Amino acid sequence: MNMERIGVKEGNYHLSNYDKTYQQFDWDEVKQAFSWSRTGKVNIAYEAIDRHAENPMKTDQVALIYSSPDREETYTFSDLKQSSNQFANVLKKYGIEKGDRVFIFMPRSPEFYSAFFGILKVGAIAGPLFEAFMEQAVRDRLEDSEASMLVTTPELLERVPHKELAHLKQIVLVGEDDNKEGSFIDFHEEMNQASKSFDVEWVDLEDGMLLHYTSGSTGKPKGVYHVHHAMIQHYQTAKWVLDLHENDVYWCTADPGWVTGTSYGIFGPWLNGVTNVVVGGRFSPENWYKTLQDYEVTVWYSAPTAFRKLMSAGSQAIEPFDLSKLRHITSVGEPLNPEVIVWGLEAFKLRIHDTWWMTETGAQVICNYPAIDIKPGSMGKPVPGVVASIIDNEGNELPPNQMGNLAIKAPWPSMMRAIWKRPEKYESYFLNNWYISGDSAYYDEEGYFWFQGRLDDVINTSGERVGPFEVESKLIEHPAVAEAGVIGKPHPERGEIIKAFITLNEGYVQSDELLDDIRQFVKKGLSAHATPRELEVKDSIPKTRSGKIMRRLLKSWELGLPTGDVSTLEE
Ligand code: WTA
Repeated sequence: MNMERIGVKEGNYHLSNYDKTYQQFDWDEVKQAFSWSRTGKVNIAYEAIDRHAENPMKTDQVALIYSSPDREETYTFSDLKQSSNQFANVLKKYGIEKGDRVFIFMPRSPEFYSAFFGILKVGAIAGPLFEAFMEQAVRDRLEDSEASMLVTTPELLERVPHKELAHLKQIVLVGEDDNKEGSFIDFHEEMNQASKSFDVEWVDLEDGMLLHYTSGSTGKPKGVYHVHHAMIQHYQTAKWVLDLHENDVYWCTADPGWVTGTSYGIFGPWLNGVTNVVVGGRFSPENWYKTLQDYEVTVWYSAPTAFRKLMSAGSQAIEPFDLSKLRHITSVGEPLNPEVIVWGLEAFKLRIHDTWWMTETGAQVICNYPAIDIKPGSMGKPVPGVVASIIDNEGNELPPNQMGNLAIKAPWPSMMRAIWKRPEKYESYFLNNWYISGDSAYYDEEGYFWFQGRLDDVINTSGERVGPFEVESKLIEHPAVAEAGVIGKPHPERGEIIKAFITLNEGYVQSDELLDDIRQFVKKGLSAHATPRELEVKDSIPKTRSGKIMRRLLKSWELGLPTGDVSTLEE
C-alpha cells in the first residue's frame, strides 16, 4: 500500500471540490440554513431542536438514541422540544435569567439534554462538567463562573462544596434524594408540573451560550466562553467534515463535559437534523462494536486513544459484528498515528479522518475531509472559511516545511469570545490578528498541516487536556509532599501519561504505601484522569532563579534527551 497518501473512494460527499470551495467560500452563505436569517430571532437551541420539531417531516424523527447498561430509550425532536421547554419553565420559576450561569454535573443521560437545551432556551449560559471531576475541580469551576444554579445527581452532590459557594443559590437534583439535608429542587417533580410550551428567549448572535473550562500550563483552569454565533461553524463543519446527511445515524463518543461532546456530540448533529446516539457506561471493544452494529451507526467520531485500544483488542474482536452500515470515521484529540489509519483500513475498510481543533476554536478548523486524499500523520487542511498558518514568535508567516506556531487568522464564527473574567488572558492569545494555538506544526507544499507537539507544558493524556500546575498544586496539598513538578511522558496507548516528580517533607520516608496514598489523594481531589500514573521521589526539583519549575528539564531527564539551555537554573 502507498502510505504516502490514501485516496478518496467514490462517494456523494458534501464537500467534493475542496480547493475551489476553499478559495470562494464565505460564512455568510451558511446563514440561509437557519431560520433566523428570515425571522431575525436567534437561539441555538431553537435551531438545533425546535426548528426540526416544528417541521412536519422531521417532528417524529428519532433525535436521540440513549443507551446505558440500565436504560435504552429514544426521543424524537418533538420530545426534546417539549422536555427542554419544561426545564426552561423550571428555570424561569426559580428566577434564572439571560446571562446567568447554570452548570450541569451529571453523567450523559436524556435528562442532561433536556437541562442543557432548557438553559439555552432561557438565554442562560450552560457550563457542563465532566462527571469524573472531584471536589477541587468542581469548586474551581463553580467559583470562577459564579454559577447561580447547578443541576446534578444525589450521587455526585457529595463532590459539590455547595455550602461554601456564595453564588450558588440553587441545586436541582436528578434522582431520589431521601438522605440529603438542605433544600434541593427535585428535577422530576418540577418537570412533571412544568408546561411543555415555552417562549424561547431570543438572543443576539454574540450572546453567551457555553462555558467550557480547560487547562493551560499555568494557573487554574480557565473559562472558555462561546456564543450562539458558533452554530454557523458547528453546522457547516458537521456537513463537510463529518459529512452528515439527513438519514445518517451518528455516534460521537465524547462526553459533553469536553468541547467535542458539545460541539459535535450535540450541536453538529442536531443542527443538521440527524439521529444522534449517546452511550453511557464503560468502554469495552465488545460494547463499542455492538453499539455500532445495533444502532446501525453510519458516521462515527472518536479519538486516537480509543482507536488504539480497539486496535490492541485485535481484529477478531470485530468479527462477530456487522458494521456494514458504517461509512465514515473521524478522530480528534491527539495525533492520529499512521498505524491506526492502516489498521482502520483493514478493520473497517474505511479511512479514519483526523481533525484538529481546540476548546478555544469551538469547532473543527484543520481537517481531513472525505473528499481529499489523506496523508497519514497529517491533520489535514483548513476548513473553507478558516485561514491557518505557521508563524514565528514575532507574528510573521513562515514558508512551507518550517516548524513554528500553529495559528488561525481571527476571527472565525465559533472562535471563543472571551476567557471568563480575564480580558488580559484572552488578549494574550492573539498576535497580529493571529490566534496562537500553543501547538507547533508545519505545512507542506500542498497545504497539509503536520502536528509536532505542544509548545507549552500542557499534557494530553488519552485525549484529555491536563494542566501540570493543577496537578502540582494538588500534590503539594498532601502533607508528605514538599515540591512537585509534573510532565507528560509519551505512552503508546494513552498518548501521554502524567509523571510527577516530588520531594518529601521532613519526617516522611518513601514507601509504596505513601506513594499510593499520594496518588489516591490527587484522584479523590481532582479526578482520575489527572492522577499521576508515575510518581518519582527526588532530592530536589529543578527551578529557575525566579522560582519556576523547569518542567522541560524534568522531561529531558526522563526521556534521556539533551538538557538544552539551563542558564536560568537555580544553583
Ligand atoms: C490536541 C479538543 C494532534 C492539541 C477538541 C490541541 C490534537 C489540544 C488534535 C486541544 C489532532 C486536538 N492532532 N493534536 N487531531 N486534536 N489535539 O481543547 O494539542 O481538549 O491544542 O480540544 O489537543 O484539546 P481540547
